Amino acid sequence: MVEALRFMETDVVAIVGPQCSTVAHMISYVANELQVPLLSFGATDPTLSSLQFPFFVRTTQNDLYQMTAIAEMVTHYNWNSVIAIYIDDDNGRNGISALSNKLEERRCKISYKAGISPLSEIAQEDIMDILVKVALMESRIIVLHVGISLGPKVFSVAKYLGMMGNGYVWIATDWLSTILDTSSRVPHETMEMMEGVVVLRQHTPDSKRKKAFKSRWNNLTGGSPGLNSYGLYAYDSVLLVAHAIDAFLDQGEVISFSNDSRLWSKESDNLHLDALTIFDGGTILLNKILQNNVNGLTGPLQFSSDRSLIHPAYDIINVVGTGFRRIGYWSNYSGLSTVPPETLYSRPANRSSANQKLFNVLWPGETLTVPRGWVFPNNGKQLRVGVPIRVGFREFVSQVRGSDNFKGLCIDVFQAAVNLLPYAVPYRFIPFGNGHQNPNYDELVRLITTDVRFRCCVGDIAIVTNRTRVVDFTLPYASSGLVVVAPFKKLNSGAWAFLQPFSPWLWAVTAAFFLAIGIVVWTLEHRVNDEFRGSPKNQVITILWFSFSTLFFAHRENTVSTLGRLVLMIWLFVVLIINSSYTASLTSILTVQQLFYPIKGIDSLKWSDDPIGYQVGSFVEHYLIKELNISKSRLKALGSPEEYTTALKLGPNKGGVAAIVDEHPYVERFIGSQCTFKIMGQEFTKSRWGYAFPRDSPLAVDLSTAILTLAENGDLQRINDKWLLPSICDLDTAKLESDRLQLKSFWGLFLVSAAFCFLALLIYFLQIVRKLRRAPICSDSNGHHRNSRSESLHRFLSLMDEKADPSGQSKKGKAEGLPSRNDGDNESGESPRIV
Ligand code: SER
Repeated sequence: MVEALRFMETDVVAIVGPQCSTVAHMISYVANELQVPLLSFGATDPTLSSLQFPFFVRTTQNDLYQMTAIAEMVTHYNWNSVIAIYIDDDNGRNGISALSNKLEERRCKISYKAGISPLSEIAQEDIMDILVKVALMESRIIVLHVGISLGPKVFSVAKYLGMMGNGYVWIATDWLSTILDTSSRVPHETMEMMEGVVVLRQHTPDSKRKKAFKSRWNNLTGGSPGLNSYGLYAYDSVLLVAHAIDAFLDQGEVISFSNDSRLWSKESDNLHLDALTIFDGGTILLNKILQNNVNGLTGPLQFSSDRSLIHPAYDIINVVGTGFRRIGYWSNYSGLSTVPPETLYSRPANRSSANQKLFNVLWPGETLTVPRGWVFPNNGKQLRVGVPIRVGFREFVSQVRGSDNFKGLCIDVFQAAVNLLPYAVPYRFIPFGNGHQNPNYDELVRLITTDVRFRCCVGDIAIVTNRTRVVDFTLPYASSGLVVVAPFKKLNSGAWAFLQPFSPWLWAVTAAFFLAIGIVVWTLEHRVNDEFRGSPKNQVITILWFSFSTLFFAHRENTVSTLGRLVLMIWLFVVLIINSSYTASLTSILTVQQLFYPIKGIDSLKWSDDPIGYQVGSFVEHYLIKELNISKSRLKALGSPEEYTTALKLGPNKGGVAAIVDEHPYVERFIGSQCTFKIMGQEFTKSRWGYAFPRDSPLAVDLSTAILTLAENGDLQRINDKWLLPSICDLDTAKLESDRLQLKSFWGLFLVSAAFCFLALLIYFLQIVRKLRRAPICSDSNGHHRNSRSESLHRFLSLMDEKADPSGQSKKGKAEGLPSRNDGDNESGESPRIV
């Protein structure tokens, strides 16, 4: 840097120079000030921007493109995270920062950055410390962006640590191609050590001119040092400046310098800054450089608007055995290709993934199989899998008593998916929960992020927003929307079902009408119709009897008046309708399941004040409070299906709940064994169950693929069938049960009838007894005293016979000359009397 500054004390029109970005940064400030074009064929730092340094001209490739090439290779091989080992100076740091940006654009990332000090000669132990940390990481894709002196040391330590073997991927930036091209005789051991490494090299198209130059160079040097791409760019830089000065002079410009007044001050006397002069024609010369039409060894030396060389491209090289072979190219124009980029420039750019190709790579460990790019961190240890210890619905997950093993649907799916992975995943289940109640699933998921107890979670874990904010989930293996479950009640239940077809009002109005019709018909008839006459008591009875017997169309009294007949006709029609409606309604109540529970779904539940049950530990509590704004005081945690049953049976008024909100799979299990509960309304959310992993976990991606395979080959369904037995309350059985009428539906009717029978008999006997008591003792015609009570008893028995034979044909009565109740057959023609 000091040399460059000293050089600038002489009058200079252009500087071709700094081979490293750090120096380029410093000198660019001065070049700016002195208006001297600074051409660098070695400074690749992407932050050397033309806006900040207008006199800086980069005559080589910007590392931004090199990092883009690496990012595209990472996505090409389906890796998603890399480790960057870099020299911690401007060039290294800024290059890796560009790599990070380019990876993020492709949804990949640098998972670990290991900077190496550029200052002093770094000790092997320090490199070892860095690499040991790298080896403990999950990613196995290592990008090495260092200098030519440091790179080989890193590889030698990596070889020593066994990090140049199977499973690792090393991508070296162009520092390594510089070594390979320059030192024609890299020791065999060094080459073998680096076998499998993928290297980038700035691509310069093959041309006769380049070939001729190379042979001249080899003649000059005997092939050592060899010619690398930086050498070609250096040559072209000089060529470019020479052409530009020619053009400058040809244009009649004069080379002149002037003093910079700002550098003239007493304080700066000792620095001799006054020796620095401004090149008057600097801007014109800069323009001549930028707008040239020179063809160099590396192709046309043209610049794009951001002052980068046009058509940035790289060769991609694979170290194989003691040599290396090109496996393809990367160009900013069309991405990865197996043909030189210049053959593609004439065609439309095609960056489709199908068009991105590279030849096979021999990866470290001498394998052609593309490494999967990651391992379980802390190599050799088992994957710690957190599993909830469920208390209810244990068919989904349950701990095998007395062991750390688990079984259940979720476990079977996980194990089947792991078995499908193309690599072994040693894992160990870590139980989570106290065993007395379901654990909090949010807490379970959150613990993954701390990585203290376990690395991932397996179980009936719903994929919900607040969880996806902290972890990644596999693809779902079961659907689990939320539903409302409430008691399943039918209108036919209960002894008073026969009253239910009509509302109380309808009963009252119907009864009133019966009475009214009786009175109306009596009013219309009693003057002209004998049947409506008699004692007032008889008339009342007739009215009642007449009107209520119309219910069964069994009235025996004739209506003789026209008006009476009219009223009766209309009334009978009404009775017909009422009768048939009652029959229809009662039939449906008794045979069809009808719910009368006021909760019809989540909306009616939300707006009621009734308590709502939810499963302990589930996300449902948070959902009801946060999403549905239901007050926490209304929520009741329930731990098991038994608690569900009790709470629902108790109902909202007796310390239970009106309904339970839970995920579909649990509710299906629950109502499958409890036929008196039913899902009310529709599933109102569409969540799913998946397995939770730390963010960007590659295992989650592979398990997702395995779960898809299970779904497609039918294994997922088979596991479901194994664990989820069909419900015992299937629809047909329930319907049959409800079609078959039960005694309980009618005992009210029987009770009413029995009560009336009893009452009637009671009154009847009371009347008889009263009459017996009142009868006097008298003597018969033979002068014998006869106890009238025994006679009454005798008559009573006769009456009983007569009752048994209401046709009045009582032979016994007739034989004994007792008067018959049958008015028509009364021989004496007198009204019957029971005295
Ligand atoms: N499946 C519920 C959840 O994920 C737990 O019961 O929260």
